[in-house]
Order: sequence, then structure tokens, then C-alpha cells
Amino acid sequence: MASPISNSSSTLYSLFFFGLLLSFSFAGRARANPNYRDALAKSILFFEGQRSGRIPANQRITWRSNSGLYDGELAHVDLTGGYYDAGDNVKFNLPMAFTTTMLSWGALEYGARMGSELGNTRAAIRWATDYLLKCATATPGKLYVGVGDPHADHKCWERPEDMDTVRTVYSVSAGNPGSDVAGETAAALAAASLVFRRVDRKYSRVLLATAKKVMEFALEHRGSYSDSLSSAVCPFYCSYSGYKDELVWGAAWLLRATNDVKYFNLLKSLGGDDVTDIFSWDNKFAGAHVLLSRRSLLNNDKNFDLYKQEAEAFMCRILPNSPSSSTKYTQGRLMFKLPESNLQYVTSITFLLTTYSKYMSAGKHTFNCGNLVVTPASLKNLAKIQVDYILGVNPLKMSYMVGYGKNFPKRIHHRGSSLPSKATHPQAIACDGGFQPFFYSYNPNPNILIGAVVGGPNQSDGFPDDRTDYSHSEPATYINAALVGPLAFFSGKH
Ligand SMILES: *[C@@H]1O[C@H](CO)[C@@H](O)[C@H](O)[C@H]1NC(C)=O
Repeated sequence: MASPISNSSSTLYSLFFFGLLLSFSFAGRARANPNYRDALAKSILFFEGQRSGRIPANQRITWRSNSGLYDGELAHVDLTGGYYDAGDNVKFNLPMAFTTTMLSWGALEYGARMGSELGNTRAAIRWATDYLLKCATATPGKLYVGVGDPHADHKCWERPEDMDTVRTVYSVSAGNPGSDVAGETAAALAAASLVFRRVDRKYSRVLLATAKKVMEFALEHRGSYSDSLSSAVCPFYCSYSGYKDELVWGAAWLLRATNDVKYFNLLKSLGGDDVTDIFSWDNKFAGAHVLLSRRSLLNNDKNFDLYKQEAEAFMCRILPNSPSSSTKYTQGRLMFKLPESNLQYVTSITFLLTTYSKYMSAGKHTFNCGNLVVTPASLKNLAKIQVDYILGVNPLKMSYMVGYGKNFPKRIHHRGSSLPSKATHPQAIACDGGFQPFFYSYNPNPNILIGAVVGGPNQSDGFPDDRTDYSHSEPATYINAALVGPLAFFSGKH
């Protein structure tokens, strides 16, 4: 398979010295292979650093402790637990639920390759689903969708353990709908129900029953949570793509979890033709198409051929050498979608590459993008380039995973990581107290948030490692969640 970005001299060499070059590049690649197993363990460990609520005794990231213990109190409910989405202290359920769905999908597809990390992955999923279950069941007729006023939070630079900003509770209901956040929550609970099906049947049943109810609510009261909650979620996690993608995604996961034909009929009624070249916490069409194509590729079920076609059209928009590609790549061969936190798109799309490759292999299937023949190896190779880039195979030789490799981001945009821990600095650091001397300092962060993958390099493969530059230096749960599966995929065989 030709390298996606080749230069004329290497083409010339390969014409004349193909065999020689092959053996050289093979040796080079073998040496350069990252330690995927180490990266996998770290990528999951990261989630412990994002925990909200009461920290258990077996916590391995020990510079974090209890926080948000009164979350939900303003609505007279218990909404403790869950994850802070990124470098702040807010719980936003739309990205948190997407994180949960992707971690669960990773465990389902790649659990067999995770070895001892499967247990840690399940624990990371459960930390989110325990919270999401509370959000879905605490008050009949309401789905809680977040805790913490994001505007108040963003004015402060303080540790989660010191957080003293208003913990406003946000919800959607019949009169204030949120089909996007509800559809994603249903997807997360349904996907997690599959993860726990054999290991904790009772928990799995609760997850699935709740997923069904939340999906009904998403369908019965249609509307976007961005309209219902406006400045509480926008511009932070505004549902830019609308809610149809979450309805398709939720239905796809409920179909996989139940096999109930009613979800297939729902998918048909929602219609197809959802052209996209992105996959993220906001836009899930491509993920749903890949997930649904599984039935076409693995079971040869013709009813799902439409989704296979959609998934393949998506791949043709991503592959760099495809005639219908609409995806940019940096000189260093990193997929470059959008300048803010680009690695979130890289990890999410890479998950689809490895997973579609896996389905294609199982179904002994290839497809075409114009006259380009796409094999399982084509998708796997592109995925490997992306994963390897993140782990340091790039022009700067910089690993974008904190604590992995020799050279990694030292000044990540993350309140807990950048401020001294409670153990070393027991006195509270108030809202304003963190900016000077910590946030604006050039010093490296005192607490290493092992495994955190940051927003990543810019379009020129450059990375300033500047704490104030959140577009590049902020980690996020959904960046990591989508990377766990591909890391397990590559650590399984090598
Ligand atoms: C990318 O980052 C590097 C390092 O900070 C910087 O010098 C360069 O100007 C940036 N390039 C773009 C296109 O932003």
C-alpha cells in the first residue's frame, strides 16, 4: 500500500530498490513502534484524574481527592460523581455520555485485546454510568444534563477540591426538550449495558431499562438542548449538528443491545443521506453508520447495506489518496480537521478506521473510492499513522500523551494538574488565587496527569506547550475515550 503522502524521490527509490527499501523501512518501522500496551494503560488511568465526587481508596492518581460532594443539592437530588469534561470543573453530560459510549464501544470491540486493562476500562465506564443513571432517574420527567455554572467556573482557576463556584443543576424535560443529550445518554447506557452483560447482569439490566426510557423521552419531546438551555451549554457544548444524529446513534445502540425490530423501524423512519466527514461528541452520524454496517459485514444482513454504503462514503472522505477525500493532512501526516482540539477528531475517526477495518476483515470485504481499492489494511495503516503520531512519531518527536515517552506536554491547560495538590498545599486556593503564580507561569505543571491526550499540534505540526493556549494544550475525556479502542487494537498483535 502506497504511503498516503509520498514524495517523488521515495517513489523513484521504491521503483529501483523496492526489495532493499522494504527491508530497511520494515526494520525502521519495527524500531519506531510505540509501546501501545503502555499507552493503553495510561490512556485509561487518565480518567481517574477527571473524577468528580467521592474518591475511592483504590484511586491510583493520588493527587486528586474528593470534590463536588454537594452536586445536585440545588435541585434537592444527588448528582455526585461523573467526570469533569476537560481542564475545568464542570460536568457537561453531552460530552460525558459520548465519552462513555466510546469507552464502551472500545471495550466491546477490543476488550479481548485489553488483557488486564479491561477491568480498568470497565471501572472507567462505570464511574460515568453510575452518575448518568442518577441523572436519568432522580426526578421523574426530568433528565439532568449537567452540574456547575460554566461561566462562573471559567472565571476561576482553582482545584476541583476547592471549587466554590455555583453548582447550578441543568435539566431537560417535556417542556424544555433535549433530544441530543437524551439520545446520547441512551446510547451510552445501552452500550454500557452490553459491556456489563456478562460480568454484572443486574447492573446491565438497569442500564438497558434506563436507556430505553431515556430514548423514549428523546423521541417524544423533540428539540435541541441548545435551544432549551442556551448559554448554559453554548458555546461550550452547543449541539451544532442538531439532534437527529443522536437519535440515529441512540437507536443504533439500542438495536445492538436489544435486537428489537422497533429500533430498526425507528432508524428507517429517521432516514439516511447524512453526509459527513467528521465524527465527534457533536456529530455521530459516521459512528452510527459504522456501528450499523456491522450487521451487513458480519451477518450479511441486506437490511443494513445502506449503512455500509454510508460508512464507506465516509471512509472515502477521510482517506488521503481517495478522489472524494475532503480531509486535510499535515506535513507530518496527521489528520487535520479543525484548529480547536484537533486530536479529538483524530482519535474519534481513528476509532472508526480500526473498527471498520476489523469488520471488513471479518466479512472478507473490500470497497472502492473511485478507482482506489480500499482493503482492511488501507484503513489500518492510516489508523496506525495517526496513533503513532500521537505517541511521538512526528516531526517534533513529541508525544501528545502526557507521561508517555520522553518528550510530552508539560504545561497542560488543566486546573488540577497545574495547581499544587492538596497534599503539598493544604490551604485553599480561591477562585482568583490560581492565575498568579500558577496559570501564567512558565513552570511545568506540578501534577502529571498521566495518560491525558491534549488538543494537539497545529496545522504546521507545531506545538507551543503553553498552558494558556487551550486549543492545543487542553486534554478532554472524549479525546482519550476514542483512543482506548485503537490502542488496544494495536497492542493486541505486534
Ligand atoms: C504552530 O506552532 C508553532 C509553535 O508554537 C508556531 O511557531 C507556528 O507559528 C504555529 N503555526 C501555525 C500555523 O499556527
